[in-house]
Amino acid sequence: MHSLSVCRTCPRGGAPETGLRERLRALIAGSPIATGLQLLMVECVGSCPRPCAVAFDAPGKWRLRFGGLTPRHAEDVVEALRLYKESESGNLSDAALPYGLRGHVSARSPTFACPKTLPSTGVPTPFSGGVAPSLSPVPK
Ligand code: FES
Repeated sequence: MHSLSVCRTCPRGGAPETGLRERLRALIAGSPIATGLQLLMVECVGSCPRPCAVAFDAPGKWRLRFGGLTPRHAEDVVEALRLYKESESGNLSDAALPYGLRGHVSARSPTFACPKTLPSTGVPTPFSGGVAPSLSPVPK
């Protein structure tokens, strides 16, 4: 299951008819991208200095957070979400994103449940009995 978390408290969310949240809802409703997707309207995704903000999550994938968005970014967010769903790791490079979203990634968070995509350090993890992942560099 993939998640699109949309901050509902960012000040530039806009009026109900024209805001980013409503544009995203409209684009996703009835679209194939809605399959296996949770659309979450959340209080904050931690990108408050750069409103509006959304985040992509999925088990075993990197978390990507975007900031500085306006309603005109809605189509690019949906396209980036499609790419995120198709990717194995979720760690989309800036160059892989739709042009309008380049420079809008405000955070990339690795998952600890994704040792396949992260090089191992050889240090056992307390929760999996496996090896602790280390951070891999952000792709160019
Ligand atoms: S209030 Fe929107 S990211 Fe914090």
